[in-house]
Amino acid sequence: MEKDHRLTPFYTKLLEYANSHTVSHDVPGHKLGQVHNDMMDFTGQQMYKLDANAPRGLDNLNRPTGVIYEAAELMADAFGAEKAYFLTGGTTMGILSMIMSVCRAKEKIILPRNVHKSAINALILSGAVPVFVKPDIDNELGIANHMAFEDVKQAILDNPDAKAVFVINPTYFGVTSDLERIVEFAHEYEMMVIVDEAHGSHFPFSDQLPIGSMAAGADMGSCSLHKTVGSLTQSSILITQGPMVDHIRLRSTINMIQSTSPSSLLMASLDVARKTIYFDGPIEIPKIIEMAEESRRKINLIPGLEAIEKSHFIGRDAFNYDQTKIIVKVSGLGITGFDVYKELFDEHHIQLELAETQIILAVLSIGTTQKDLDALVDALKIVSDKYMPMNLTPIKSKVKYSFPQAYTRPREAYHAPKKYVPLNQAVDEIAAESVMIYPPGIPIVIPGEIISQDILDDLDFYQRSGSMILSDTEGGYIKIIDKEYWEKWSELYADE
Ligand SMILES: Cc1ncc(COP(=O)(O)O)c(C=O)c1O
Repeated sequence: MEKDHRLTPFYTKLLEYANSHTVSHDVPGHKLGQVHNDMMDFTGQQMYKLDANAPRGLDNLNRPTGVIYEAAELMADAFGAEKAYFLTGGTTMGILSMIMSVCRAKEKIILPRNVHKSAINALILSGAVPVFVKPDIDNELGIANHMAFEDVKQAILDNPDAKAVFVINPTYFGVTSDLERIVEFAHEYEMMVIVDEAHGSHFPFSDQLPIGSMAAGADMGSCSLHKTVGSLTQSSILITQGPMVDHIRLRSTINMIQSTSPSSLLMASLDVARKTIYFDGPIEIPKIIEMAEESRRKINLIPGLEAIEKSHFIGRDAFNYDQTKIIVKVSGLGITGFDVYKELFDEHHIQLELAETQIILAVLSIGTTQKDLDALVDALKIVSDKYMPMNLTPIKSKVKYSFPQAYTRPREAYHAPKKYVPLNQAVDEIAAESVMIYPPGIPIVIPGEIISQDILDDLDFYQRSGSMILSDTEGGYIKIIDKEYWEKWSELYADE
Protein backbone atom coordinates (compact mmCIF):
# COMPACT_ATOMS: atom_id res chain seq x y z
CA MET A 1 0.00 0.00 0.00
CA GLU A 2 1.25 3.46 -0.84
CA LYS A 3 2.45 5.36 2.21
CA ASP A 4 1.05 8.75 3.13
CA HIS A 5 4.12 10.95 3.61
CA ARG A 6 2.04 13.86 4.91
CA LEU A 7 1.87 11.94 8.18
CA THR A 8 4.35 12.45 11.01
CA PRO A 9 3.29 9.77 13.49
CA PHE A 10 5.92 10.35 16.16
CA TYR A 11 5.94 14.15 16.02
CA THR A 12 2.13 14.32 16.03
CA LYS A 13 1.89 12.13 19.13
CA LEU A 14 4.68 14.07 20.85
CA LEU A 15 2.91 17.35 20.15
CA GLU A 16 -0.30 15.91 21.57
CA TYR A 17 1.62 14.93 24.72
CA ALA A 18 3.26 18.37 25.00
CA ASN A 19 -0.15 20.03 24.84
CA SER A 20 -1.86 17.59 27.18
CA HIS A 21 -0.98 19.31 30.50
CA THR A 22 0.10 15.93 31.87
CA VAL A 23 1.54 16.14 35.39
CA SER A 24 5.14 14.95 35.15
CA HIS A 25 6.33 12.67 37.93
CA ASP A 26 8.82 11.05 35.57
CA VAL A 27 12.12 12.16 34.09
CA PRO A 28 13.42 14.42 32.57
CA GLY A 29 13.89 16.57 35.64
CA HIS A 30 13.13 19.83 33.87
CA LYS A 31 9.49 18.69 34.21
CA LEU A 32 8.45 19.78 30.73
CA GLY A 33 10.20 23.12 31.17
CA GLN A 34 9.26 23.94 34.76
CA VAL A 35 12.91 24.36 35.83
CA HIS A 36 13.95 27.71 34.48
CA ASN A 37 17.41 28.09 32.97
CA ASP A 38 19.33 30.59 30.85
CA MET A 39 18.83 28.67 27.61
CA MET A 40 15.07 28.81 28.10
CA ASP A 41 15.26 32.59 27.81
CA PHE A 42 16.20 31.96 24.20
CA THR A 43 14.23 28.84 23.29
CA GLY A 44 11.17 29.36 25.46
CA GLN A 45 9.48 26.57 27.42
CA GLN A 46 8.00 24.98 24.31
CA MET A 47 11.20 23.19 23.33
CA TYR A 48 11.36 21.56 26.77
CA LYS A 49 7.74 20.44 26.45
CA LEU A 50 8.79 18.40 23.43
CA ASP A 51 11.65 16.80 25.38
CA ALA A 52 9.87 13.80 26.86
CA ASN A 53 11.47 10.54 27.93
CA ALA A 54 9.16 7.60 27.25
CA PRO A 55 5.63 8.46 28.38
CA ARG A 56 2.74 6.12 27.55
CA GLY A 57 1.77 6.28 23.92
CA LEU A 58 5.14 7.51 22.67
CA ASP A 59 6.57 4.03 21.99
CA ASN A 60 10.08 2.81 22.85
CA LEU A 61 13.06 3.16 20.54
CA ASN A 62 14.62 -0.04 21.89
CA ARG A 63 11.74 -2.10 20.50
CA PRO A 64 9.33 0.08 18.54
CA THR A 65 5.79 -1.16 18.00
CA GLY A 66 3.78 2.08 17.93
CA VAL A 67 4.41 5.60 16.63
CA ILE A 68 8.20 5.14 16.33
CA TYR A 69 7.57 1.99 14.30
CA GLU A 70 5.14 3.87 12.03
CA ALA A 71 7.56 6.78 11.59
CA ALA A 72 10.37 4.33 10.77
CA GLU A 73 8.17 2.62 8.17
CA LEU A 74 7.64 5.97 6.45
CA MET A 75 11.37 6.66 6.65
CA ALA A 76 12.18 3.29 5.05
CA ASP A 77 9.70 3.98 2.27
CA ALA A 78 11.16 7.44 1.57
CA PHE A 79 14.66 5.96 1.28
CA GLY A 80 13.57 2.94 -0.80
CA ALA A 81 14.60 0.62 2.05
CA GLU A 82 12.83 -2.37 3.58
CA LYS A 83 13.52 -1.27 7.12
CA ALA A 84 14.77 1.87 8.88
CA TYR A 85 16.10 2.33 12.39
CA PHE A 86 16.06 5.76 14.03
CA LEU A 87 19.39 6.64 15.66
CA THR A 88 20.08 9.37 18.18
CA GLY A 89 23.85 8.92 18.19
CA GLY A 90 24.57 10.07 14.65
CA THR A 91 25.92 7.99 11.79
CA THR A 92 28.81 7.33 14.17
CA MET A 93 26.36 5.01 15.91
CA GLY A 94 25.09 3.68 12.58
CA ILE A 95 28.61 2.71 11.48
CA LEU A 96 29.39 1.09 14.83
CA SER A 97 26.13 -0.88 14.65
CA MET A 98 26.57 -1.98 11.04
CA ILE A 99 30.14 -3.20 11.40
CA MET A 100 29.67 -4.78 14.84
CA SER A 101 26.59 -6.66 13.70
CA VAL A 102 28.31 -8.03 10.59
CA CYS A 103 31.89 -8.83 11.72
CA ARG A 104 32.96 -11.02 14.58
CA ALA A 105 36.52 -10.90 15.94
CA LYS A 106 39.17 -11.83 13.37
CA GLU A 107 36.71 -11.70 10.46
CA LYS A 108 37.73 -9.49 7.55
CA ILE A 109 36.10 -6.36 6.22
CA ILE A 110 37.21 -4.50 3.07
CA LEU A 111 37.17 -0.74 3.46
CA PRO A 112 38.82 2.41 2.11
CA ARG A 113 41.65 3.78 4.26
CA ASN A 114 40.03 7.25 4.35
CA VAL A 115 37.16 6.07 6.57
CA HIS A 116 35.72 8.17 9.37
CA LYS A 117 37.03 7.42 12.85
CA SER A 118 33.79 5.63 13.78
CA ALA A 119 34.69 2.83 11.33
CA ILE A 120 38.08 2.46 13.02
CA ASN A 121 36.37 2.38 16.41
CA ALA A 122 34.02 -0.30 15.06
CA LEU A 123 37.09 -2.37 14.15
CA ILE A 124 38.32 -2.03 17.73
CA LEU A 125 34.96 -2.95 19.24
CA SER A 126 34.25 -5.86 16.89
CA GLY A 127 37.82 -7.15 16.63
CA ALA A 128 37.48 -7.33 12.84
CA VAL A 129 40.51 -7.36 10.55
CA PRO A 130 40.61 -4.44 8.12
CA VAL A 131 41.62 -5.00 4.50
CA PHE A 132 42.29 -1.46 3.39
CA VAL A 133 41.85 -0.23 -0.17
CA LYS A 134 43.85 2.85 -1.06
CA PRO A 135 41.50 5.62 -2.16
CA ASP A 136 42.20 8.08 -4.96
CA ILE A 137 44.71 10.63 -3.70
CA ASP A 138 44.07 13.93 -5.42
CA ASN A 139 47.39 15.75 -4.99
CA GLU A 140 46.10 18.73 -6.96
CA LEU A 141 43.61 19.41 -4.16
CA GLY A 142 45.38 17.58 -1.32
CA ILE A 143 42.41 15.32 -0.50
CA ALA A 144 41.52 11.60 -0.61
CA ASN A 145 38.31 10.44 -2.26
CA HIS A 146 36.72 7.44 -4.02
CA MET A 147 37.89 3.82 -4.43
CA ALA A 148 38.50 2.55 -7.97
CA PHE A 149 36.22 -0.40 -8.79
CA GLU A 150 39.22 -2.46 -9.95
CA ASP A 151 40.91 -2.00 -6.55
CA VAL A 152 37.80 -3.15 -4.69
CA LYS A 153 37.44 -6.09 -7.07
CA GLN A 154 41.05 -7.10 -6.43
CA ALA A 155 40.56 -6.84 -2.66
CA ILE A 156 37.50 -9.10 -2.94
CA LEU A 157 39.39 -11.62 -5.10
CA ASP A 158 42.34 -11.61 -2.70
CA ASN A 159 40.08 -11.94 0.36
CA PRO A 160 37.09 -14.09 -0.62
CA ASP A 161 36.53 -14.86 3.08
CA ALA A 162 35.78 -11.18 3.90
CA LYS A 163 32.35 -10.62 5.41
CA ALA A 164 31.64 -7.22 3.96
CA VAL A 165 32.72 -4.32 1.81
CA PHE A 166 32.36 -0.86 3.34
CA VAL A 167 31.83 2.07 0.95
CA ILE A 168 31.66 5.82 1.59
CA ASN A 169 28.83 7.32 -0.48
CA PRO A 170 29.90 10.11 -0.91
CA THR A 171 33.20 11.13 0.68
CA TYR A 172 33.25 14.30 2.75
CA PHE A 173 34.01 16.14 -0.48
CA GLY A 174 31.02 14.73 -2.41
CA VAL A 175 32.79 12.11 -4.52
CA THR A 176 31.36 8.61 -5.08
CA SER A 177 32.69 5.19 -6.09
CA ASP A 178 30.79 2.91 -8.49
CA LEU A 179 28.53 1.54 -5.77
CA GLU A 180 26.21 -0.49 -8.02
CA ARG A 181 29.11 -2.39 -9.56
CA ILE A 182 30.74 -2.94 -6.19
CA VAL A 183 27.45 -4.33 -4.83
CA GLU A 184 27.01 -6.64 -7.80
CA PHE A 185 30.55 -8.02 -7.50
CA ALA A 186 30.54 -8.29 -3.68
CA HIS A 187 27.21 -10.13 -3.70
CA GLU A 188 28.65 -12.71 -6.08
CA TYR A 189 31.05 -13.51 -3.23
CA GLU A 190 28.26 -13.36 -0.65
CA MET A 191 29.78 -10.29 0.96
CA MET A 192 27.48 -7.64 2.36
CA VAL A 193 27.86 -4.05 1.26
CA ILE A 194 27.68 -1.53 4.09
CA VAL A 195 27.47 2.14 3.21
CA ASP A 196 28.61 5.20 5.12
CA GLU A 197 26.09 7.67 3.73
CA ALA A 198 26.65 10.32 6.38
CA HIS A 199 26.91 12.95 3.64
CA GLY A 200 24.40 11.41 1.22
CA SER A 201 21.00 11.53 2.97
CA HIS A 202 19.60 13.76 0.23
CA PHE A 203 20.58 11.42 -2.65
CA PRO A 204 17.26 9.52 -2.95
CA PHE A 205 15.35 12.77 -3.42
CA SER A 206 16.71 14.01 -6.74
CA ASP A 207 17.80 12.24 -9.91
CA GLN A 208 20.42 14.96 -10.35
CA LEU A 209 22.40 13.50 -7.43
CA PRO A 210 24.51 10.33 -7.20
CA ILE A 211 22.69 7.07 -6.54
CA GLY A 212 21.70 6.28 -2.94
CA SER A 213 22.72 3.09 -1.13
CA MET A 214 19.38 1.33 -1.38
CA ALA A 215 18.85 2.13 -5.07
CA ALA A 216 22.35 0.75 -5.70
CA GLY A 217 21.37 -2.54 -4.04
CA ALA A 218 23.52 -2.22 -0.89
CA ASP A 219 22.49 -4.17 2.20
CA MET A 220 22.83 -1.45 4.82
CA GLY A 221 23.48 2.26 4.95
CA SER A 222 23.58 4.94 7.57
CA CYS A 223 22.56 8.50 6.71
CA SER A 224 23.13 11.63 8.79
CA LEU A 225 19.87 13.42 8.06
CA HIS A 226 21.20 16.15 10.30
CA LYS A 227 24.01 16.92 7.85
CA THR A 228 22.21 17.54 4.56
CA VAL A 229 18.48 17.06 5.10
CA GLY A 230 17.66 19.33 8.04
CA SER A 231 16.94 17.25 11.15
CA LEU A 232 18.61 18.12 14.46
CA THR A 233 22.30 17.46 14.97
CA GLN A 234 23.07 13.85 15.94
CA SER A 235 19.84 12.44 14.45
CA SER A 236 20.50 9.77 11.89
CA ILE A 237 19.06 6.57 10.43
CA LEU A 238 20.20 3.08 9.57
CA ILE A 239 18.46 1.62 6.51
CA THR A 240 18.51 -1.95 5.27
CA GLN A 241 17.23 -4.29 2.60
CA GLY A 242 17.70 -7.85 1.44
CA PRO A 243 18.05 -11.31 2.94
CA MET A 244 21.62 -10.96 4.24
CA VAL A 245 20.71 -8.58 7.08
CA ASP A 246 20.38 -10.34 10.44
CA HIS A 247 17.87 -8.05 12.10
CA ILE A 248 18.02 -9.76 15.48
CA ARG A 249 21.78 -9.21 15.70
CA LEU A 250 21.48 -5.70 14.31
CA ARG A 251 18.74 -4.71 16.77
CA SER A 252 20.72 -6.08 19.73
CA THR A 253 23.85 -4.22 18.58
CA ILE A 254 21.95 -0.96 18.19
CA ASN A 255 20.40 -1.38 21.63
CA MET A 256 23.81 -2.11 23.13
CA ILE A 257 25.16 1.32 22.17
CA GLN A 258 21.98 3.37 22.25
CA SER A 259 20.96 5.33 25.29
CA THR A 260 17.93 4.03 27.12
CA SER A 261 16.75 7.64 27.15
CA PRO A 262 16.87 8.58 23.45
CA SER A 263 15.99 12.18 22.72
CA SER A 264 12.39 12.72 21.59
CA LEU A 265 13.48 16.00 20.03
CA LEU A 266 15.92 14.16 17.77
CA MET A 267 13.40 11.48 16.83
CA ALA A 268 10.68 14.04 16.09
CA SER A 269 13.12 16.04 14.00
CA LEU A 270 13.78 12.93 11.89
CA ASP A 271 10.07 12.38 11.40
CA VAL A 272 9.36 15.93 10.19
CA ALA A 273 12.58 16.20 8.14
CA ARG A 274 11.54 13.07 6.22
CA LYS A 275 8.21 14.67 5.32
CA THR A 276 9.91 17.87 4.14
CA ILE A 277 12.61 16.25 2.01
CA TYR A 278 10.08 13.80 0.53
CA PHE A 279 7.90 16.61 -0.81
CA ASP A 280 10.36 19.50 -1.25
CA GLY A 281 13.57 17.65 -2.17
CA PRO A 282 12.65 16.85 -5.79
CA ILE A 283 11.69 20.50 -6.37
CA GLU A 284 14.33 22.32 -4.32
CA ILE A 285 17.46 20.19 -4.89
CA PRO A 286 17.70 20.99 -8.63
CA LYS A 287 17.41 24.70 -7.73
CA ILE A 288 20.24 24.36 -5.21
CA ILE A 289 22.40 22.59 -7.79
CA GLU A 290 21.76 25.42 -10.25
CA MET A 291 22.60 28.04 -7.60
CA ALA A 292 25.80 26.17 -6.76
CA GLU A 293 26.71 26.02 -10.44
CA GLU A 294 26.17 29.77 -10.81
CA SER A 295 28.30 30.45 -7.72
CA ARG A 296 31.10 28.27 -9.11
CA ARG A 297 31.00 30.32 -12.32
CA LYS A 298 31.30 33.57 -10.32
CA ILE A 299 34.08 32.21 -8.10
CA ASN A 300 36.04 31.13 -11.17
CA LEU A 301 36.19 34.78 -12.24
CA ILE A 302 37.92 35.76 -8.97
CA PRO A 303 41.74 35.95 -9.30
CA GLY A 304 43.62 33.24 -7.39
CA LEU A 305 40.56 31.03 -6.85
CA GLU A 306 39.24 27.95 -8.61
CA ALA A 307 35.84 26.42 -7.92
CA ILE A 308 36.18 22.73 -8.62
CA GLU A 309 33.77 21.33 -11.21
CA LYS A 310 32.31 17.82 -11.40
CA SER A 311 34.50 17.19 -14.47
CA HIS A 312 37.61 17.43 -12.27
CA PHE A 313 36.54 14.35 -10.29
CA ILE A 314 35.13 12.43 -13.26
CA GLY A 315 38.51 13.06 -14.93
CA ARG A 316 40.06 11.20 -11.98
CA ASP A 317 37.74 8.23 -12.56
CA ALA A 318 35.35 9.06 -9.76
CA PHE A 319 31.94 7.58 -10.49
CA ASN A 320 29.91 10.67 -9.65
CA TYR A 321 29.97 13.94 -7.72
CA ASP A 322 27.43 15.67 -5.48
CA GLN A 323 27.13 19.15 -6.95
CA THR A 324 25.54 20.59 -3.80
CA LYS A 325 29.09 20.86 -2.45
CA ILE A 326 31.24 23.85 -3.32
CA ILE A 327 34.96 23.17 -3.18
CA VAL A 328 37.21 26.15 -3.81
CA LYS A 329 40.92 25.85 -4.36
CA VAL A 330 42.42 28.86 -2.60
CA SER A 331 46.11 27.98 -2.69
CA GLY A 332 46.65 30.33 -5.67
CA LEU A 333 46.30 33.23 -3.21
CA GLY A 334 49.44 32.07 -1.42
CA ILE A 335 47.50 31.25 1.77
CA THR A 336 46.05 27.96 3.01
CA GLY A 337 42.46 26.79 3.14
CA PHE A 338 42.82 26.97 6.93
CA ASP A 339 43.68 30.70 6.65
CA VAL A 340 40.66 31.40 4.43
CA TYR A 341 38.39 29.35 6.72
CA LYS A 342 39.46 31.54 9.69
CA GLU A 343 39.28 34.80 7.76
CA LEU A 344 35.78 34.11 6.41
CA PHE A 345 34.54 33.50 9.95
CA ASP A 346 36.45 36.27 11.72
CA GLU A 347 35.94 39.01 9.12
CA HIS A 348 32.77 38.00 7.26
CA HIS A 349 30.68 35.89 9.69
CA ILE A 350 30.72 32.95 7.32
CA GLN A 351 31.13 29.45 8.74
CA LEU A 352 32.43 26.87 6.27
CA GLU A 353 32.18 23.11 6.65
CA LEU A 354 35.92 22.51 6.51
CA ALA A 355 39.28 23.52 5.22
CA GLU A 356 42.25 21.58 3.96
CA THR A 357 45.65 22.93 3.03
CA GLN A 358 44.64 23.92 -0.51
CA ILE A 359 40.86 24.05 -0.40
CA ILE A 360 37.76 25.12 1.45
CA LEU A 361 34.43 23.30 1.41
CA ALA A 362 30.93 24.77 1.65
CA VAL A 363 28.03 22.34 2.11
CA LEU A 364 24.66 23.43 0.70
CA SER A 365 21.21 22.07 1.47
CA ILE A 366 17.64 22.97 0.60
CA GLY A 367 17.98 25.54 3.38
CA THR A 368 20.68 27.50 1.54
CA THR A 369 19.51 30.83 0.10
CA GLN A 370 20.80 32.86 -2.85
CA LYS A 371 21.71 35.58 -0.32
CA ASP A 372 23.92 33.11 1.58
CA LEU A 373 25.74 32.16 -1.60
CA ASP A 374 26.16 35.81 -2.65
CA ALA A 375 27.70 36.48 0.78
CA LEU A 376 30.23 33.71 0.18
CA VAL A 377 31.16 34.94 -3.30
CA ASP A 378 31.44 38.58 -2.12
CA ALA A 379 33.62 37.60 0.84
CA LEU A 380 35.89 35.51 -1.40
CA LYS A 381 36.31 38.56 -3.69
CA ILE A 382 37.43 40.62 -0.70
CA VAL A 383 39.89 37.91 0.39
CA SER A 384 41.28 37.75 -3.16
CA ASP A 385 41.60 41.56 -3.38
CA LYS A 386 43.58 41.48 -0.13
CA TYR A 387 46.02 38.66 -0.95
CA MET A 388 46.50 38.71 -4.74
CA PRO A 389 48.50 41.99 -4.75
CA MET A 390 50.92 40.45 -2.24
CA ASN A 391 52.16 38.03 -4.92
CA LEU A 392 52.65 35.21 -2.42
CA THR A 393 53.96 31.85 -3.57
CA PRO A 394 51.07 29.43 -4.22
CA ILE A 395 50.67 26.94 -1.37
CA LYS A 396 51.37 23.28 -2.04
CA SER A 397 50.15 20.56 0.26
CA LYS A 398 53.03 18.75 1.87
CA VAL A 399 50.80 15.92 3.01
CA LYS A 400 52.14 12.64 1.67
CA TYR A 401 49.09 10.42 2.25
CA SER A 402 51.44 7.45 2.43
CA PHE A 403 49.08 5.21 4.34
CA PRO A 404 50.94 3.30 7.03
CA GLN A 405 51.53 -0.43 7.11
CA ALA A 406 49.42 -2.48 9.53
CA TYR A 407 51.30 -4.55 12.11
CA THR A 408 48.35 -5.92 14.06
CA ARG A 409 44.55 -5.61 14.35
CA PRO A 410 43.23 -2.32 15.75
CA ARG A 411 41.56 -4.17 18.64
CA GLU A 412 44.73 -5.94 19.67
CA ALA A 413 46.71 -2.69 19.57
CA TYR A 414 44.01 -0.90 21.53
CA HIS A 415 44.18 -3.43 24.35
CA ALA A 416 47.95 -4.02 24.33
CA PRO A 417 50.22 -2.55 27.06
CA LYS A 418 51.15 0.99 26.11
CA LYS A 419 53.60 3.73 26.74
CA TYR A 420 53.81 7.36 25.76
CA VAL A 421 56.69 8.76 23.72
CA PRO A 422 57.36 12.18 22.18
CA LEU A 423 56.24 12.20 18.53
CA ASN A 424 59.81 12.61 17.29
CA GLN A 425 60.79 9.35 19.00
CA ALA A 426 57.92 7.32 17.57
CA VAL A 427 59.35 6.29 14.19
CA ASP A 428 58.88 2.55 13.53
CA GLU A 429 56.84 2.10 16.70
CA ILE A 430 53.31 0.60 16.59
CA ALA A 431 50.54 3.11 17.22
CA ALA A 432 48.11 2.35 20.03
CA GLU A 433 45.74 5.23 19.28
CA SER A 434 44.15 7.01 16.33
CA VAL A 435 45.42 10.45 15.40
CA MET A 436 43.42 12.63 13.02
CA ILE A 437 42.70 16.19 12.06
CA TYR A 438 39.13 17.32 12.65
CA PRO A 439 37.18 17.94 10.51
CA PRO A 440 37.12 15.62 8.55
CA GLY A 441 38.02 13.12 11.30
CA ILE A 442 39.83 10.69 9.00
CA PRO A 443 42.65 9.04 10.96
CA ILE A 444 46.20 9.59 9.73
CA VAL A 445 47.33 6.66 11.83
CA ILE A 446 45.22 4.01 13.62
CA PRO A 447 45.97 1.52 16.39
CA GLY A 448 48.12 -1.32 15.08
CA GLU A 449 49.81 0.65 12.29
CA ILE A 450 53.54 1.32 12.08
CA ILE A 451 54.37 4.99 12.54
CA SER A 452 56.57 6.11 9.66
CA GLN A 453 58.54 9.31 9.26
CA ASP A 454 56.03 10.34 6.55
CA ILE A 455 53.20 10.13 9.08
CA LEU A 456 55.10 12.26 11.56
CA ASP A 457 55.88 14.79 8.82
CA ASP A 458 52.17 14.95 7.89
CA LEU A 459 51.20 15.50 11.53
CA ASP A 460 53.83 18.18 11.93
CA PHE A 461 52.60 19.91 8.78
CA TYR A 462 48.98 19.88 9.98
CA GLN A 463 50.02 21.10 13.41
CA ARG A 464 51.91 24.03 11.91
CA SER A 465 48.95 24.80 9.59
CA GLY A 466 46.84 25.39 12.70
CA SER A 467 44.36 22.54 12.17
CA MET A 468 42.80 20.70 15.08
CA ILE A 469 44.57 17.43 15.82
CA LEU A 470 42.52 14.88 17.72
CA SER A 471 44.07 12.02 19.67
CA ASP A 472 43.97 10.63 23.22
CA THR A 473 47.41 12.05 23.99
CA GLU A 474 48.25 15.72 24.19
CA GLY A 475 51.36 17.85 24.13
CA GLY A 476 53.40 16.36 21.30
CA TYR A 477 53.27 12.77 22.62
CA ILE A 478 51.76 9.63 21.09
CA LYS A 479 50.54 6.39 22.63
CA ILE A 480 52.42 3.35 21.30
CA ILE A 481 52.51 -0.37 22.09
CA ASP A 482 55.01 -1.26 24.79
CA LYS A 483 56.64 -4.12 22.92
CA GLU A 484 58.61 -5.29 25.95
CA TYR A 485 55.49 -6.33 27.86
CA TRP A 486 53.34 -7.13 24.87
CA GLU A 487 54.44 -10.72 24.35
CA LYS A 488 53.96 -11.63 27.99
CA TRP A 489 50.63 -9.86 28.02
CA SER A 490 49.45 -11.65 24.88
CA GLU A 491 49.94 -15.02 26.60
CA LEU A 492 47.70 -13.93 29.46
CA TYR A 493 45.08 -11.91 27.66
CA ALA A 494 44.68 -13.36 24.17
CA ASP A 495 41.07 -12.21 24.02
CA GLU A 496 39.61 -13.93 20.98
C1 LIG B 1 32.39 10.37 6.24
C2 LIG B 1 31.71 10.44 7.58
N1 LIG B 1 31.16 9.33 8.10
C3 LIG B 1 30.54 9.34 9.28
C4 LIG B 1 30.43 10.48 10.03
C5 LIG B 1 29.74 10.44 11.37
O1 LIG B 1 28.47 11.02 11.27
P1 LIG B 1 27.74 11.69 12.50
O2 LIG B 1 28.34 13.05 12.70
O3 LIG B 1 26.29 11.74 12.08
O4 LIG B 1 27.93 10.83 13.69
C6 LIG B 1 30.99 11.66 9.53
C7 LIG B 1 30.92 12.91 10.31
O5 LIG B 1 31.41 13.92 9.98
C8 LIG B 1 31.65 11.64 8.28
O6 LIG B 1 32.22 12.73 7.77
